[in-house]
Amino acid sequence: MSSLSRDTDKLKFHRSLAPSHIDQLVALFQTEWWTKGRNKADVEKMLQSGGPLFAFIDPHNDELVAFARAMTDGVYKAMIFDIIVKETWRGTGLGGVLMNTVLNDPALIDIKHRELYCLDDMVPFYEKWGFATAAAGLNFMRKSEG
Ligand SMILES: CC(C)(COP(=O)(O)OP(=O)(O)OC[C@H]1O[C@@H](n2cnc3c(N)ncnc32)[C@H](O)[C@@H]1OP(=O)(O)O)[C@@H](O)C(=O)NCCC(=O)NCCS
Repeated sequence: MSSLSRDTDKLKFHRSLAPSHIDQLVALFQTEWWTKGRNKADVEKMLQSGGPLFAFIDPHNDELVAFARAMTDGVYKAMIFDIIVKETWRGTGLGGVLMNTVLNDPALIDIKHRELYCLDDMVPFYEKWGFATAAAGLNFMRKSEG
């Protein structure tokens, strides 16, 4: 691993994705348990939904190396989704850069409740950015289609 290719300062931040980066996002999604199986047509539709997206590209090889997205009502609630750092870039501080970028984004910084859901083993990671488990007795509920 060369230090040059793992220097997060060299990465370019993008708020939208070129077609080649969408292909890379679809590939990145195949590597995580909750995004595995997402197809390009649905991902393109998802990206058009209007919520802010956060992407870091390595200009050295035009590689999408980190991604997150959010949806917000602009006042009360923002949900943050799909926080992923490409495996080859993990442990470099890029996850922290991604979290800081998301949380300091003008669209999200003043929202009353910024929320996400995660497995138990990710709780310590999100606690670093001030997230806390919501109140006891509060359930995350889901109605699935298809
Ligand atoms: C979670 C993830 C985004 C972290 O990215 P990363 O680039 O490895 O994180 P960083 O190197 O920036 O680490 C930042 C800090 O978080 C800590 N950290 C990283 N992963 C952690 C984890 N799973 N649990 C607890 N702390 C973690 C690091 O030790 C570091 O701490 P420090 O600042 O005290 O040194 C990355 O591992 C990932 O993409 N995982 C797979 C996808 C995933 O599970 N996403 C979350 C879905 S809820």
